[in-house]
Amino acid sequence: MIESPPTLPEGPIATILGDLRNERSATVPFPPGETSFSMRRTQSFMRDPMSWMLDGYERFGPVYTLRIFHHNVVMMLGPEANHHILVSHAHNFSWRDGHLRDLAALMGDGLLTTDGPYHRAHRKMMLPAFHRERIRAATAVIENEVARAMGAFEPGAVIDLYDWARNISLRVAMRALFGLDPDRVDTRGMDAADEFERALSFHAQNIYGQLARGPGTPYSRLLKSRARLDALLYEEIDRRRDDGGGKEDLLSLLVQATDEDGEPLPTEQIRDEVMTLMFAAHDTTTSTISFLFLELARNPELAEDPGITVDMLLEETLRMYPPAYVGPRLSREPFEFAGIPVPGRAHIHYSSYASHHLPDVWPEPERFDPYRFTPEGKAAMRKGQYVPFGGGSRTCIGMRFGEAEIRVIARAILERCRLDTLPGHRLVMRTAPTLSPRGGLPMVVRRAAPAAVLSATL
Ligand code: HEM
Repeated sequence: MIESPPTLPEGPIATILGDLRNERSATVPFPPGETSFSMRRTQSFMRDPMSWMLDGYERFGPVYTLRIFHHNVVMMLGPEANHHILVSHAHNFSWRDGHLRDLAALMGDGLLTTDGPYHRAHRKMMLPAFHRERIRAATAVIENEVARAMGAFEPGAVIDLYDWARNISLRVAMRALFGLDPDRVDTRGMDAADEFERALSFHAQNIYGQLARGPGTPYSRLLKSRARLDALLYEEIDRRRDDGGGKEDLLSLLVQATDEDGEPLPTEQIRDEVMTLMFAAHDTTTSTISFLFLELARNPELAEDPGITVDMLLEETLRMYPPAYVGPRLSREPFEFAGIPVPGRAHIHYSSYASHHLPDVWPEPERFDPYRFTPEGKAAMRKGQYVPFGGGSRTCIGMRFGEAEIRVIARAILERCRLDTLPGHRLVMRTAPTLSPRGGLPMVVRRAAPAAVLSATL
């Protein structure tokens, strides 16, 4: 029997006290930075973490400290920092005790919030669902869902591309990962997608909203949404157990999986993994599609450039707008990075977004330039330079799945039309829990011949 992960502190007070205890027990000083308490900094960081991260790099270098609310957070940015945290010293960093712990209220003990043997065993059980042939089968589902939804792309129509893509990606996840019929599953008059959004909106609250407990608070709304989603998931898991599996999707894999003693996975653990995958799959591909077409609307000549491929567009989009833009961890032991000591049991963040926008690593980082991703360009990249899917043994398990989905959707749109932003459109980012265009992305459909990038074979 695989031992369950250690329980997390209950409630915000216990969490804060734990953080303060850890900080007091530090045996080496924190790296230089802004280490005094400041509510102004805390709120400003929560509104716009990206500017803070890049500004800190300029002032202090690749490793520095920012005090956010009650505790220090050590930022580690750039290729070497990414490689240190994700690959060469990954064993010294815990996911569960870092800020990802905040997701456990909804996700429970899934891949994103666990470490060690528990995480390894679960990942091993789930990997077959992401093998090449499963991705091929999923691609057929994706094509089918996209074809069904393309009717909306009539010349002159205004479409909220973010909303449109989110709907597809949720339907695809339900069908391809969990073998559910999205048109049938909502038997209680409940919209599972909306319920999920409501639960996640907790993470977009300001610090006071997230700390409050009791009736009517964002946290109690999260719990209500979770209870409704749980009822739906438990019903499906039971149904699948009664069916005896037989299907090849991820849910069947989890239902049929046994540990070394031949014991099936407890229903709660299956629920936690399903919820985690719904979360991880839901906003990442959707945001990427939105940002890709936003940049094509800003740079229309790129779609007609036969030297550019759909994959180059995708890779540059994930450089400029990596949806999972920050990777929080807790260090286990004190360590040294770039000659600077860092305490053990300290909150550490690596950041794909900040690392992808460092001017000394990516010339003109604010310019959308798919030519960075020619085969030669990619071969010249340093270890840890490009990390939209993380890295090392915990690289995004859904990477191939997500890429396949984005390719199919982007191709379908580029074959049929071009999209423009509405006059006066201004991009405002939402950063919690993932990077996405705040308020969606309304776009106007224009008639056009298939884009040149579709036939490019670089
Ligand atoms: C463009 C699409 C996607 C991007 C950019 C993305 C990005 C990431 C990143 C950066 C991580 C690692 C986070 C860290 O190091 O802290 C991650 C982990 C993960 N992703 Fe994705 N993701 C995408 C799509 C998906 C999809 C479609 C799924 C599910 C089908 C998925 C499931 C997961 C899971 C379960 C993990 C945790 C893996 C582990 O720790 O073993 N992701 N993702």
